[in-house]
Amino acid sequence: MSTHNVWTHKGTFLLAAVGSAVGLGNLWRFPYLAGENGGGAFILIYGLTIFAVGIPILIAETMLGRASRQSPIMGMRHLTKTHDTSRAWETIGWLGAVSAFLILSFYSVIAGWAIHYTWQMLTGSLAGADAETIGAGFDALLASPGLLTLYHTLFIIASGLIVGLGIHRGIENSLRIMMPALFAILLVVLAYGIANGDFAAAASFLFTFNIADLSLEGWLEAMGQSFFTLSLGMGAIMAYGAYMSGEASLTRTAFAIAVVDTAVAMIAGLAIFSLVFGAGLDAGQGPGLMFVTLPLAFAEMPFGALIGGVFFILVLGAAISSSISLIEPVAAYLVERFDLTRPQAVTLMVVASWTLGLLTVVSFNLWAEGTIFHALFGRSAFGFIELLTNIFMPLGGLMIALFAGWALTHSEVMKEMRTSEGWFATWRFLVRFVAPAAVAFVFLRSIPQIEG
Ligand code: PHE
Ligand code: NA
Repeated sequence: MSTHNVWTHKGTFLLAAVGSAVGLGNLWRFPYLAGENGGGAFILIYGLTIFAVGIPILIAETMLGRASRQSPIMGMRHLTKTHDTSRAWETIGWLGAVSAFLILSFYSVIAGWAIHYTWQMLTGSLAGADAETIGAGFDALLASPGLLTLYHTLFIIASGLIVGLGIHRGIENSLRIMMPALFAILLVVLAYGIANGDFAAAASFLFTFNIADLSLEGWLEAMGQSFFTLSLGMGAIMAYGAYMSGEASLTRTAFAIAVVDTAVAMIAGLAIFSLVFGAGLDAGQGPGLMFVTLPLAFAEMPFGALIGGVFFILVLGAAISSSISLIEPVAAYLVERFDLTRPQAVTLMVVASWTLGLLTVVSFNLWAEGTIFHALFGRSAFGFIELLTNIFMPLGGLMIALFAGWALTHSEVMKEMRTSEGWFATWRFLVRFVAPAAVAFVFLRSIPQIEG
């Protein structure tokens, strides 16, 4: 245990966790969910959940990683032994590994769409195109299993190569270049949106709070999104936390991650809706917002092909910095448990997840209907895998909150948290009661979904 891996710098954990957090969740999912659920009211609930539930669980998950200094599965085994608690808590590690594997399988397929659009934008194929052409282009992409598989393969190989190079040479080095570049691109796209779009309409859409606008479904979506966006409950943060410097403050780091992640979602929302409203388009287009509505807005604007291309590079980079955090917990486990080399472990994880991803690929075309998944669960294979992760993620978060809140003693927590009694008491109240209650609420969403 004395020779564990540690990040090179005290601040690297923050960099890596922000890389994990900032992803398709911010750029693709957050804007379309806000668009479908009335804007401001959605954001209010989302923000409250981030701060009352997300941050406390983020602290807890990082703490478990740093205290165990191992991959989530082996780490939870270690913690249950040293703390003399039930081995049932090992479920946290297993749930995390399974969720990471499932999420990677479809995350890679969707991120692959951004490869297609980067190419389309930069070659100018969409310049001046009308709504029908762009909509038909998206449909054609989804209808092609070959193209989807090609992009899925490219994306997952790129992610695997980074993790295969190791936490220093691969993960740290790539994030140190990628993350600042991504923030710079985000600001360029925002400036472009302000210059060419309708910023006032975007701001009033996102920040006018009318709680009556929000359906129960919207509440649940907002809370589910706050787990997804912070990468909670699936071992990604725990695995990175295992390499965190003992000196860094858990509380300050968790707040920083949440603030940056939220800021990126807001800036992306402002930029995207400025462009969408500026082009006179509709905000409530669902998952097609980024891949149909936005390209249409770019198609009509000066330098739209160039800025649009740069925007999709941002999407790709943000997605890669998240997908590597899905590979790491499983790869680290395979290395610890079976003595595989890191490249072997990464290959195993990536090949398995790639294969499962083929189910997502065909869910948009060959298996779009009439499969066993439709018969049993009323949805495609992709819909079913997504549903499973919607259940496992909050479940993992719930167990992390309960383990940290109830199974760990005051002194064990204080050894990691080193904070005032007042904040400790607040944190413990949140993980003991508020987070579990909130998660129970999120589950309400899954029940009607399971029944199809
Ligand atoms: N947080 C990432 C996003 O917002 C998604 C993710 C979830 C990444 C879980 C890793 C683990 O896109
Ligand atoms: Na996010």
